Amino acid sequence: MKLSPSNMPPVTRRRVLRMIAGSFVATTAGAGVNAAWIEPESLTITRRDIPCPNLPPGLDGLRVCLVSDLHYREPDEDDPLLERVVDAIHRETPDLVLMPGDFIDSDEKMMAPLLRRISGLQAKHGVFASLGNHDGWNADSGRARRLFEKAGFGMLINDHSRLSIRGESLYVAGTDFVWDGNPDPVRMLRGVPADAPLVTLVHEPDYFDTVNVHRAADLQVSGHTHGGQCRVPLVGIAPVKPRWGRKYVEGHFRKDGANLFVTRGVGTTGLRVRFACPPELAVLTLRGRSA
Ligand SMILES: [Fe+2]
Repeated sequence: MKLSPSNMPPVTRRRVLRMIAGSFVATTAGAGVNAAWIEPESLTITRRDIPCPNLPPGLDGLRVCLVSDLHYREPDEDDPLLERVVDAIHRETPDLVLMPGDFIDSDEKMMAPLLRRISGLQAKHGVFASLGNHDGWNADSGRARRLFEKAGFGMLINDHSRLSIRGESLYVAGTDFVWDGNPDPVRMLRGVPADAPLVTLVHEPDYFDTVNVHRAADLQVSGHTHGGQCRVPLVGIAPVKPRWGRKYVEGHFRKDGANLFVTRGVGTTGLRVRFACPPELAVLTLRGRSA
């Protein structure tokens, strides 16, 4: 039957309400499917130039891959995304890979299988890690350090390494996790010359202000917040923010000559959902005075 104005059903208030309710249910169901199954697997790559006015010319253009918050908990569910992260890092051929913590979610036994899966990670000048609060709460830091070193990665817990790159020194330093841990910037920086180029790994981003009192890093990399993990679309507000991750939630910040980059990270904690906040691999290029 052909619909004409005379035989179309009348637009009643009840009918309009039913249409609105139907649209709402469909939208909510779609958002739920996206948050639970699509977005947590949708790896994004963020590229940023980081202005570092004090960088010596030999370090200009240094490329850093930042990967954080793997929250490895179920190999069957976590491995496909993890493999894509490792492949994406290798395609970038970075100078450094930095991993500022939360490798596991709540089970120390997941640390060894995770390390086996990422042990092939390579960068021209090394792969460095620091502990996150989930690592510190659930794993023994000495055992974690041994596993990382066995995999060929540097584990920096209130410690630093000096790298020699294209004839220049670069110091890579990391604190212990901050939330109920024992971060010690003084110990971390002991022996680092005051004017030396410095990159730091600090899991919790809000500790940036504390490290800055001791020393402005050319770049601090952090994770911890997951960018909020679920955000309000369009406005981008993150309703849930963890302790030590409420001021600097996501992205690039500059203060007193120091840079901070906070990544949304890769994994999830609590419910395995992400919304308007996809997993992220950050590729950061340090740019010196010439930039
Ligand atoms: Fe985390």
